Amino acid sequence: MKVLVTGGVGYIGSHTCVQMIEAGMTPVILDNLYNSKETVLDRVEKLTGVRPVFYKGDIRDRAFLDQVFAEQDIGSVIHFAGLKAVGESVEQPLKYYDNNVNGTLVLVEAMLAADVNSLIFSSSATVYGDPASVPIREDFPTSATNPYGRSKLMVEEILTDIHKAHPEMSITILRYFNPVGSHKSGELGEDPQGIPNNLMPFISQVAVGRREYLSVFGNDYPTVDGTGVRDYIHVVDLANGHLAALNHRGKTAGLHIYNLGTGNGYSVLQMVKAFSKASGVNIEYKIAPRRPGDIAECWADPAKAKSELQWQASHTLDDMTADTWRWQSQNPTGYPSK
Ligand code: NAD
Ligand code: WQD
Repeated sequence: MKVLVTGGVGYIGSHTCVQMIEAGMTPVILDNLYNSKETVLDRVEKLTGVRPVFYKGDIRDRAFLDQVFAEQDIGSVIHFAGLKAVGESVEQPLKYYDNNVNGTLVLVEAMLAADVNSLIFSSSATVYGDPASVPIREDFPTSATNPYGRSKLMVEEILTDIHKAHPEMSITILRYFNPVGSHKSGELGEDPQGIPNNLMPFISQVAVGRREYLSVFGNDYPTVDGTGVRDYIHVVDLANGHLAALNHRGKTAGLHIYNLGTGNGYSVLQMVKAFSKASGVNIEYKIAPRRPGDIAECWADPAKAKSELQWQASHTLDDMTADTWRWQSQNPTGYPSK
């Protein structure tokens, strides 16, 4: 079966393609390379011996999508393509609604025209807003505090309506908690352009000497040590969650929603300590004011994915930090340009 992977050159998409190839599946990648480099494909080939078919183009380009569906016998789509920087989404909301919401509309239109009925969509734990309690279950109320989160929530709601009108479709919404880590080889990893927004890439760039110190955003939250607590999940576990979703739900008509998280929460300072241990480098940090929009703590109840997808995360915090460090130390400035 061929699976169209939009955004397959990106961080989560590239790891998912490796796991798919190793499981005998055939990913066909579509990406406009807005936030990724084509040299990622060299690494996928190096790890798997297979260079996936790659279409460079944009999900908002309907004629281009029609051409891809006409040329490839696609059975399912995993839809990673999107923009993900929360701060940028506040500055440029139209860019986010166009790329994330409009892009998904064009993609689903092209799927329907091509009779492709199975879709897996990358959503985010951000759709739970500031949860009333933890751990978070899939039936908790949803809300958004910024245009990025709202774009994910809008797409979830639009997909729900599309499913009502097309009940023959299988639509799986995966709500990721905080993806971190890298392929254990150190060949693939997260390669943010510019100053990292997220904690783990920032810590690893401090460790490798690209940044002087980490600003810890707030130490007065009602948490174990006052710093924010999140459910960090190894990107390979996350990638495997997509394979489980394809195998268990991708073939069953319905609208399915799953948390992909570990069920464990770690604070910022616990992450700093774990990364120092993995890298042997003392991570300099300074306490800074809270970041607007941040919540105190957030972690998943992953029971639904375990019972219905037979999936659960298996990598430990030590795996997450050791693998990130291997990637960052082997590739201190990220992927090479062509
Ligand atoms: P990423 O930026 O590394 O990968 C996204 C890929 O999509 C990039 O290669 C980019 O070039 C491509 N892309 C973007 N817009 C496109 C378009 N219009 N047409 C074609 N290609 C396009 O991001 P990621 O971390 O791999 O995230 C993948 C998905 O998961 C995104 O939808 C993101 O919102 C979602 N998500 C990510 C996180 C996270 O923390 N990384 C958490 C929750 C959800
Ligand atoms: C984690 C913790 C920060 C950076 C975001 C998006 C979410 C999803 C994942 C999706 C928090 C603290 C961070 C730093 C710090 N994105 N921190 N110093 O905010 O949970 O989630 O990424 O595509 O939608 O909102 O992740 O990694 O930014 O922050 O102290 O330099 O680390 O305050 O407590 P977050 P994060």
